[in-house]
Amino acid sequence: MCGIVGYNGNKDCVEILLDGLSKLEYRGYDSAGIAVRKDGNIEVVKEKGKLANLREKVEKKKMTGNCGIGHTRWATHGEPSENNAHPHISNDGSVTVVHNGIIENYQELRAKLERHGYTFYSETDTEIVANLLDYYYKKYKLGPIDAIAKTMVRVRGSYALGILFEEYPDDIWVARKDSPMIIGTDKDGSYIASDVPALLKYTNQVYYIDNLEMACLKKDSVTFYDLNGDEIKKELKTIEWDIASAEKEGYEHFMIKEIHEQPEVIGKTLNSLMVDDKIDLSKVGLSEKEIKDISQIYIIACGSAYHVGVCAQYILEDLAKIPVRVDVASEFRYRKPILDKKGLAIVISQSGETADTLAALRECKEMGVKTLGIINVVGSSIAREADHVLYTLAGPEIAVATTKAYSTQLIASYALALEFAKVRGTIDNKEYNEIINELKTIPEKVQSIIDKEIDDIQKLASKLCNLDDAFFIGRNLDYAIALEGSLKLKEISYIHSEAYAAGELKHGTISLIEDNTLVIGLATQEEIFEKTISNMVEVKSRGAYVVCVVPEGSDVSKVSEYTIEIPKTNKYLYSSLVVIPLQLLSYYISCAKGLDVDKPRNLAKSVTVE
Ligand code: AGP
Repeated sequence: MCGIVGYNGNKDCVEILLDGLSKLEYRGYDSAGIAVRKDGNIEVVKEKGKLANLREKVEKKKMTGNCGIGHTRWATHGEPSENNAHPHISNDGSVTVVHNGIIENYQELRAKLERHGYTFYSETDTEIVANLLDYYYKKYKLGPIDAIAKTMVRVRGSYALGILFEEYPDDIWVARKDSPMIIGTDKDGSYIASDVPALLKYTNQVYYIDNLEMACLKKDSVTFYDLNGDEIKKELKTIEWDIASAEKEGYEHFMIKEIHEQPEVIGKTLNSLMVDDKIDLSKVGLSEKEIKDISQIYIIACGSAYHVGVCAQYILEDLAKIPVRVDVASEFRYRKPILDKKGLAIVISQSGETADTLAALRECKEMGVKTLGIINVVGSSIAREADHVLYTLAGPEIAVATTKAYSTQLIASYALALEFAKVRGTIDNKEYNEIINELKTIPEKVQSIIDKEIDDIQKLASKLCNLDDAFFIGRNLDYAIALEGSLKLKEISYIHSEAYAAGELKHGTISLIEDNTLVIGLATQEEIFEKTISNMVEVKSRGAYVVCVVPEGSDVSKVSEYTIEIPKTNKYLYSSLVVIPLQLLSYYISCAKGLDVDKPRNLAKSVTVE
């Protein structure tokens, strides 16, 4: 939810910190701050609002130094303000901290510290961590490792911490539990960051710090310790992403860039899952016997990743004849699920850090269910804890509203369904090859939709941008896509939008339809095409303005005010095509409203707190 950066080396750290924070603004952007060491002192500058406000303040102060930490915030405890912005400082300035995560027992810790004479200037849980570190540091006088270890044992919740101890001017200390943190290194020093884009400009050599571990970053070394203070050896990993893929490259927003990247990353993901025109999941590591033994599939995710799960449910059940249950992770983890140990739990997550999805994964593992993660960020928490991982190759996705990651997750779902169906003998070669051949045309068909529709959709968006409400309706797979289309619209245009199973409208919601209510009707599934059209007639007869997304050649003249035709494809694959005009429509409506497309209000790219 927040972004952390740090640098300790022979270069000036201020620009490295500010530049790193700008790459993490998508993780949170209601306030920001940096702490820089200079001549033994620690100077802290913080500012409310966008990062540009902080930059202006830092430049006025002419801050310089070789060691520092920084933070961009997405408020959880305490409203966005300079006072609540990070870094936070202990009472006498001996400890300075930046934090991503949530300390759940922060009230009891605050009371404990107040009993020991500590006072607090902010409403944050992080300030309590700064004073708790200071408390243990002064009480036991055993140095940073001991103070951090005792603090890690005492707090409950999630944290990635960047810590400066006043008496250790050569060090940055790091501690982690459940919140993301990576540590980079190069000839010029060592770096910390919440996510890859913040340090890719400097190095692609990184260490992954695991839960309940700490690290000490010096100019020319990184040392890891476990909770007992024993040193741990770590292997240096290479990040395969290139810096260009983490920049806008001339596009106005990351979101439109990432929409345009979809043909390429869909193709890359598909190619990574195929060998000689057959699905090859050997990297995933599920044996044929394990696939044959699967009694039930549980798909658990959040947001758009959940919508992929709803698509996958239809396809897996149809093709592989395996019962599938889909849950939003925040519900799953508290509904006391009854799971079959012979089942397979599939968690879907772009970031691999979504707290609810990570918790659901852990619950499945505790209950003895095999787990598989469909993940985009290599080395992320979920990727490292799932029994099996199927990586999507979307590359870094910066815009808060997901597009290319969603599309590559769909590809991963198709691959799983086809492989499971083939291994379990529920699909014949003819159908298998038909779907494979169509699958290979998806990248070019996505490209053709973008090329053909982008100008017209931009015009349509300018007509629709002042609407207050919108409805997305569809049946079967089209309903699953309606969920995603609706979320895209509301999360970046702030227009209230609902997705509805088309056949369900008449059970209440149709009462909301009146003159000019926008209804976007999706009808790609031939067997139920007429039924979906009749649902559109029902809303049109009550005054709705109906926009249809249908395969080319479909006859919707009696109902559609505006028709978006997409190329024909196999019925299971339409989700990958229908979503493209819906992404474009939401993007251009948001632009027409002059909103911050890449960083919509109240949202963060990765929800790493529950
Ligand atoms: C989608 O546009 C949103 N940004 C959000 O719903 C997102 O899909 C959800 O938070 C899940 O994130 P994850 O894939 O990183 O777990």
